[in-house]
Amino acid sequence: MNRTPDIASLFPSGFVWGAATAAYQIEGAANEDGRGESIWDRFCATPGKVRAGDTGEVACDFFHRYREDIALMRELGIDAFRFSISWPRVLPEGRDRVNDRGLDFYDRLVDALLEAGIAPFATLYHWDLPQALEDKGGWPERATAEAFAAYAELVGDRLGDRVGSWTTLNEPWVASWLGYGLGIHAPGREGVRPALAAGHHLLLAHGLAVEALRRSSPRSRIGITIDLYPMHPASGSAADREAARAADGSRNRWFLDPVFRGAYPEDTAERFAAELPVIADDDMTRIAAPIDFLGVNHYSRTVIRAGEKGEPVEVCVPGADHQDMGWEVYPAGLREILVRVRDDYGPAAVYVTENGATYADVRGHDGGIPDIERQRFLEGYIRAVGEAIGDGVPVRGYFAWSLLDNFEWALGYQRRFGLVYVDYPTLERIPKQSFGWYRDLIARSHRVAAAA
Ligand code: FCB
Repeated sequence: MNRTPDIASLFPSGFVWGAATAAYQIEGAANEDGRGESIWDRFCATPGKVRAGDTGEVACDFFHRYREDIALMRELGIDAFRFSISWPRVLPEGRDRVNDRGLDFYDRLVDALLEAGIAPFATLYHWDLPQALEDKGGWPERATAEAFAAYAELVGDRLGDRVGSWTTLNEPWVASWLGYGLGIHAPGREGVRPALAAGHHLLLAHGLAVEALRRSSPRSRIGITIDLYPMHPASGSAADREAARAADGSRNRWFLDPVFRGAYPEDTAERFAAELPVIADDDMTRIAAPIDFLGVNHYSRTVIRAGEKGEPVEVCVPGADHQDMGWEVYPAGLREILVRVRDDYGPAAVYVTENGATYADVRGHDGGIPDIERQRFLEGYIRAVGEAIGDGVPVRGYFAWSLLDNFEWALGYQRRFGLVYVDYPTLERIPKQSFGWYRDLIARSHRVAAAA
């Protein structure tokens, strides 16, 4: 007999079920209604940067099809939809000149969501910096953080009466290190110094945007989304444990400590000392502006051994289950990271703002997509969230990544993460088996909550 409780019973009434997306990955309409160029348009147009020369020019065409997609959201039964606002659609040069037609799009989107009974959960920065700001130095420049604050104020003024939850940034580690450190993402720059300067100014931008949104959107709740990875030592040796701690410092604590404690972690700051940017007197206080929730993006854990000089080296766990990004499927890691943020940082509330998996989806003879691996992935990770709630972590919501298959950055359209399959040549949407599974879970959870 199966004694495992139904996962729907692990979630309290009011728990928010959602799905997440990002502007550049779904909107398309790159040259419509006065949108300016973003660093991702430029990066995609640079030969060799994105797999198969894919671009976000059309993507899922969400810009034109959002009503159809909201109908799918209703069918799914989600309580909230996480999307991001394209900065260059609203401010084509990044600052000063406002593009009203860009703001109008988000106005229509927010109204349509509310009409459908779905709460808008908006992110201000999901990596599509206006190219005009990159031309002036991009995130390694302090001025970019100031421009971001003005953008936040503008968007808050326009949408703050209807958007109940804002996140300032999505994954500042990825934006700074993949974009400015390793050159894998737009704008494709490389170096420790630009990566650290970008990271600091992203954090400062977050702090300034919190202040701006408190003014312009006083009734909304404000948070930040950070991608967190448990760093597990490959062995019990002191060297491996130290290497894992170093990896935890640069990846997790580097962003959590400033936001919650107003200081960079000392051990990591010592290692980076020679390459740190200028940190002005009140920067750290502003970065630590009180927030209402922490958004956690989580996909996998990382196992670390010490390299020759003691540096952290990622290890692939033999025999472990992996999704097609090469990321280990390890649901216990999500419970672990949620308990840890509660213990170490005590956020008022936590949302899992992204979690999901990519597999090579194939349409069956009946036209459906039997993505049983994704369904199992979600089941394992959602159970881990329920267990963390049982441990007393104030997790208030979960957003599956992603509603739709979409443009997966440097990997283009090859990686599908959606609950809904997108047939790119026709843009037809086909809900996968996991969509039906998630829909049923949400419905059961709503029923359990209503009966309680
Ligand atoms: C996260 C990103 C999201 C998507 C998923 C797979 O790092 O925030 O846009 O690419 O990974």
